[in-house]
Formats: sequence, C-alpha cells, structure tokens
Amino acid sequence: MPERPSWKPEYSVRVEELDAQHKHLFSLIGKLFDAMAGANVRDISRNILSSLNDYAITHFSTEERLLLRFKYDDFSEQKREHDAFFDTIRDYEKNGSDTFEKDMLEFLNDWLSEHILKVDKKYATFLNNHGVK
Ligand SMILES: [Fe+2]
Repeated sequence: MPERPSWKPEYSVRVEELDAQHKHLFSLIGKLFDAMAGANVRDISRNILSSLNDYAITHFSTEERLLLRFKYDDFSEQKREHDAFFDTIRDYEKNGSDTFEKDMLEFLNDWLSEHILKVDKKYATFLNNHGVK
C-alpha cells in the first residue's frame, strides 16, 4: 500500500455528519499506516485499532439509526456489511499472524473504501430527499 490511506471527495455521501465520521475513520487508518513505519508497531497499532473499533461502533450506529428512521429499503444490506466487518476483525485477531498489523491495515482501507463507494453512496440521494444533508 504505497499511498497513505485518506478520505477522498469521491467518497462523499452528501451528509455532513456521516462524511465527517468517514473522514475520522480514514484518519485512524492513516495513523495505523504511519505506525507501520515506526519502531513500536505492535503497541501503537493496538491503541489505534481499539480506537477504530470504538469509533466504527459509533459510526455504524449513527448510519443505521438514520436509515431506520426513514425506512431505507437496503437497510439489511448495510446491517449485514457492518456486522461482517466486526466478524472479520475478530477472525484476524484470533489468527494473530506475524503480519497482523499489515493485514489489518489493508483490510480496513479496502473495506472502508469499497463499502462507502458501493454501499453507502447508495443512500446519499435517499437521505438528502428526507432533508438529511
Ligand atoms: Fe455503512
């Protein structure tokens, strides 16, 4: 992964609060990327991953609450992907391989980019039409 993970304008879901949360998730993944270059990879990564886990819980629940409030059709797809995210993290933790930090970094960056572009962006117009911007 040569490029430092970061939020890009193409990821915008046109809802200010959710874009801000996505930016924060990317900034934590960016910190993980930076930690890989340092000496204390294991310690620093553990802290960042725990913050990421906590913030993902906060973010997913904000998203799910908004989508439920307006009875979004594809809610179950969102919920399934969010739940699968934590399942995958748990699997990585259980396996605890030597390349754990690098694997996690790749997974998190790929998952978040793909999820925003393929799943989250679908609710942009829906939420905007309900006055959420
Ligand atoms: Fe989502």
